Amino acid sequence: MAKERTAFFCADCGHESTRWLGRCPACGAWNTFAEAPAPAAARRGPAARPGAPRAAAAATPLREVAVDAVARIGTGFAEFDALLGGGVVPGSVVLIGGPPGTGKSTLLLQVAGALAQRAGPVVYVTGEESAAQTKLRATRLQTCDDVLLLAETDLDRILDALDQARPRIAVVDSIQTLARAQTESFAGSVAQVRDCAAGLLEFAKRTGCAVFLVGHVTKDGAIAGPRLLEHMVDTVLYFEGDGGEYRILRAHKNRFGNAEEISVFRMDGEGLHEVSNPSQLFLGGATGREPRPSGSCIVASIVGSRPLLVEVQALVGETTYGTPRRLAANLDPARLAMIIAVLERRAGMNLGSFDVYASVAGGLRVDEPATDLGVALAIASAFRSQHLAPNTVAFGELGLSGEVRGVSQRARRVAEARRLGFGSVIAPAAATPGAEPGVCGVRDVASAISAALG
Ligand code: TYD
Ligand code: MG
Repeated sequence: MAKERTAFFCADCGHESTRWLGRCPACGAWNTFAEAPAPAAARRGPAARPGAPRAAAAATPLREVAVDAVARIGTGFAEFDALLGGGVVPGSVVLIGGPPGTGKSTLLLQVAGALAQRAGPVVYVTGEESAAQTKLRATRLQTCDDVLLLAETDLDRILDALDQARPRIAVVDSIQTLARAQTESFAGSVAQVRDCAAGLLEFAKRTGCAVFLVGHVTKDGAIAGPRLLEHMVDTVLYFEGDGGEYRILRAHKNRFGNAEEISVFRMDGEGLHEVSNPSQLFLGGATGREPRPSGSCIVASIVGSRPLLVEVQALVGETTYGTPRRLAANLDPARLAMIIAVLERRAGMNLGSFDVYASVAGGLRVDEPATDLGVALAIASAFRSQHLAPNTVAFGELGLSGEVRGVSQRARRVAEARRLGFGSVIAPAAATPGAEPGVCGVRDVASAISAALG
């Protein structure tokens, strides 16, 4: 018998190579190549029968492409539906990733229960926990007991069961525990994850059943094994946050809605509950009236499609030895370094012998350039040990020459600040000054600091 053809795959991005490589040419990761059987399609090869006649595929004008109006399925969790772009799309495949213990199984069991009540048959495949363990959890969560439970890890048996049950929704917890017998590799390997995901994808597209896949995330934030999974599915949602009481679920990719959208959940003994006004949450109790400590600045940010007020905190302390430390939590470290350089060169703030720590409180990651001005003001406030007025909010992007640049959705940011009691807004100078009451337009970082701290 001919020897099975094998190939080497990068465990991070799924890049295929005929030999082992130390560094992946596609994603640049080191030491990620592992040997696995080559996929069947590659073995057949397009050039296997040169010259053989084949039926030509025909392209259709866009106007003649028929679309069935997709009725989305509401889960009963308004925020979760919004995250998906307005409910579950039949036949879609959604990947939910996150570190262990963030609540992936809890959320999906709750969603499964709600959907079983509203939409018809729901199958929950548990490869990680036993049926009894899942039942215990379901009892605690008071999940609707119509959910069909399947404790199985063999993909072909799962697909057979799904074909029989014909569910509208299937949950697979988790993709890393599944294995296909003919794929000669262990569960969780690139080859298995790829083949099992492909099998489930095919099932979803063929039957119109929406599939939720749970995927584990490694320490460096990638789905354990292949990033390749992200390319295959329609929607990718990741849990983020530091595992406190609140859990943030963010859409990183969505073929049916807005990416970067978030929804926030609170975890307690009865599972996850949606938080419908998250601005309040990330403000950490700031109301715009009580005095604020130094080193804190409220920023009007846009996360996904909604305005959100977040608190940026900074701490500046003398470096005791060696090079000064710069640490960014929930912020982009490269942007923090740039803001510090701008403060030093354009605002005369000598931070060269000081450690600077900056973070967004509440565990939400904010990567928008519009937070720059808030970060700069928080650092200035910490450096001078002077606090900002309690009702101050800031937003604006910083340029390298110290200029404050305009950002998108200005009016919505100002309106959100007002709504939550922050009447004094420091923002990029507008084209028509004085048009917005309470808004102080600034042109550069030095004048922003004088406006905020005097
Ligand atoms: P889980 O959903 O098992 O996480 P994952 O599937 O992402 O690994 O969540 C486990 C954590 O949630 C665990 O630390 C216990 C906690 N939890 C609650 O606080 N309340 C609850 O009602 C449930 C079910 C879990
Ligand atoms: Mg789990």
